[in-house]
Amino acid sequence: MTADYNPGLDGIVLGPTELSGVDGKAGQLTYRGYPIEDLADNTSYEEAVYLLWNGELPTVDQLDTFSQQLVDNRRLPEPLAALLTELVELNDDPMDALRTAVSALTASDPNAGTATGSRENTETAAIRLTAVLPTIVAAYVRLRDGQDPVDPREDLGHAANFLYMLTGEKPDPVVADTLDTALVLHLDHGINASTFSGKVNASTLATVYSSVTGSLAALSGPLHGGANADVMRMLQAIDASDKTPTEWVDDAIARGDRIPGFGHRVYQVKDPRAIVLQERSKALAEAAGETKWYEYSTEIEQHLDEQKGIKPNVDFYSSSMYYVMEIPIDIYTPIFAISRMAGWLAHLFEQYDNNRLIRPLGDYIGAHRKTVQPIDER
Ligand code: CMC
Repeated sequence: MTADYNPGLDGIVLGPTELSGVDGKAGQLTYRGYPIEDLADNTSYEEAVYLLWNGELPTVDQLDTFSQQLVDNRRLPEPLAALLTELVELNDDPMDALRTAVSALTASDPNAGTATGSRENTETAAIRLTAVLPTIVAAYVRLRDGQDPVDPREDLGHAANFLYMLTGEKPDPVVADTLDTALVLHLDHGINASTFSGKVNASTLATVYSSVTGSLAALSGPLHGGANADVMRMLQAIDASDKTPTEWVDDAIARGDRIPGFGHRVYQVKDPRAIVLQERSKALAEAAGETKWYEYSTEIEQHLDEQKGIKPNVDFYSSSMYYVMEIPIDIYTPIFAISRMAGWLAHLFEQYDNNRLIRPLGDYIGAHRKTVQPIDER
């Protein structure tokens, strides 16, 4: 008998979580009960991570200690610099290089194998992973561009230090603050595909490093985090064509293509993260005097809403925003990973604390009870 199943697990509840609340009908997202709009305006990425991991916003002293732990773990372990150089020679995509580098980080953590055993070990790995991701991405970009990696600075926050390591120059405070907001907004989002992937891995009691390596793989796909780079490639294709943005997306839909940055499994209304990112994208575009990409984006949003009733997701307005920040397009998804890493880790804490192997069933619909024929008779 065919089981009652759903191939995309739509609407299936995996279990309780105290981390992020996603209300798809109302278009609301909270971390530990705080609306993301409030957090985006009033907390740094470090504060939001502390909140997610510990359940409460930090005091000044708690934030100082936590931020210092991250600063102390920013440097790239020596063998990783050599690995990144090799990956550049192989012309690896930055997201693939990041996944390989994170997988290789296991080797430089003496406690990696026992990380699942205690909250302390899991947290040590979590600090390390969260702290070093921006360094890996920035070093990769620099090496690829034929430049030496820039050492992290101790006096800059997570977002500002990342921008500094990319360019070697202290970033404009407005740009750094805007990236910080984007990192807050990408931090966590319920049991999305990459988080689910990490939880499945952790449920076998695989290590933290193995678990998040799987999450990075899931995030890279164009239906998930990979969409943000595709949005900018689409905007560039529109610009290079002789079509208006609406004509271009109509043609794409007529071909049966998906428009990157639109639609969502959970939200039936506009993604609340897209609302904040749209504001930031507009402000940055106006300040930079480069509003073309933002204008293309709003035109597409209005048209797709009228034509298909589909709304922008988090990946739509972040693209034009990163572009005005002069961030290379192929690291938009790695930036998503830089933020979401701490979200994945928060879910791993929950998974290890109340673990049960995640092991669904398949509904077998193939042939039954066949007999093996000798090979020369087949
Ligand atoms: N472009 C065109 N049509 C779309 C799109 C889109 N981006 N998204 C959904 N639709 C249509 C789809 O054709 C379908 O229409 P119909 O019922 O007439 O066939 C309807 O909307 C429902 O789509 P679905 O495929 O059943 O929805 P889903 O929940 O399986 O897929 C999704 C969700 C995110 C994979 C999908 O919306 C999509 O492919 N979007 C483009 C890629 C993207 O932006 N991904 C980022 C997701 S959110 C942030 C993140 O995780 O990184």
